Amino acid sequence: MKFLIVAGARPNFMKVAPILEAFRRLGQGAEVVLVHTGQHYDEKMSDDFFRDLGIPAPDVHLGVGSGSHAQQTARIMTAFEEVCQTQMPDCVVVVGDVNSTIACALTAKKLGIEIAHVEAGLRSGDMSMPEEINRRCTDAITDVFFTTDTLADENLLREGVPPERIHFVGNTMIDTLLRHIERARAGPLPADLEPHKFAVLTLHRPANVDDEGVLAAILDAIIDISRRIPVVFPVHPRTARLLECFGLLPALRREPGLRLIEPLSYLPFLGLVARSRMVLTDSGGIQEETTVLGIPCITLRENTERPITNRIGTNVLVGRDAAAIRDAAVRALTGETRNGALPEKWDGLAAERIVRVLLEPAR
Ligand code: UD1
Repeated sequence: MKFLIVAGARPNFMKVAPILEAFRRLGQGAEVVLVHTGQHYDEKMSDDFFRDLGIPAPDVHLGVGSGSHAQQTARIMTAFEEVCQTQMPDCVVVVGDVNSTIACALTAKKLGIEIAHVEAGLRSGDMSMPEEINRRCTDAITDVFFTTDTLADENLLREGVPPERIHFVGNTMIDTLLRHIERARAGPLPADLEPHKFAVLTLHRPANVDDEGVLAAILDAIIDISRRIPVVFPVHPRTARLLECFGLLPALRREPGLRLIEPLSYLPFLGLVARSRMVLTDSGGIQEETTVLGIPCITLRENTERPITNRIGTNVLVGRDAAAIRDAAVRALTGETRNGALPEKWDGLAAERIVRVLLEPAR
């Protein structure tokens, strides 16, 4: 069988890495083609991840770059259609919820190619998030569903997906974390930071960074927190652009406790989070990683597509209200957090389970 595996944006790379590796170990006879859409293209958002994670160079690079959602999705679809027609795969494997995920799934489906979706069934219930639209649309046309937890299975069953098409396999992002954590912890910390005596901040969701008032209010809370504990803030390119455009950078740079740094690649970022006191974020994947690492995670969103991290992990949802963010940070600093438990099957073997299912002859 021939598989096309698609990766496009930063959070995809750690999800495909263990799948490619499991194919190398278990997939004799299967042909695997790695397609990079080029949705993320900066060295720090893409190439560095390939190097850190030991992902081979993509077999096909679509080089689509940035644009509006419609432009980006359309460019990926046009380029990926040609790839499917040339490569004629039996199955296209997409991961996560980014524009590359829906663009490639939709293209393949219309060519009659089977689609497998890794991280299927997650739902935030918030259709104002582009990722929620991508998740729902991708799952509406997926053939083989791989889920990270049983809440996702429940979502899919509720939406009418036949149970035999759903495979609860665990979390490939956590496969990657477990594989690299020792190396990540052994790496250097940015200058003069002491383990467990700093917080980490990431912010990039349009709902948090596109509106000047919302962004400024979140940053007010962060400035307060940085006066109690140093806050390291690796800045996503879209956030950097908006901070500049709203004129917010000078005030942030005046704060001695706040360190704005370039986006970090996988190992330095994991090493930073693993040795932090707490994380403040609007990312999806970081809610899962902190749960596994046992680090308190304060999520600056009203909802999450990963409620398992909130139910049994270390994650708390606080939204965007400055007072709520401050309060949650103070609680984390005073130790008023729960240790959290590990979700079932987040054990480093998810990719192996996926590849075994994909290789089943009678599937
Ligand atoms: C995308 C995903 C989001 C994911 C995030 C992680 C979608 C809809 N969104 O959001 O789910 O959490 O990646 O990073 O797919 N840019 C660069 N260099 C790059 C890539 C982007 O400068 O390598 C800048 C460009 O100005 C671009 C903007 O960031 O317009 C947004 O990039 P895009 O890929 O559209 O969305 P993200 O916000 O990164």
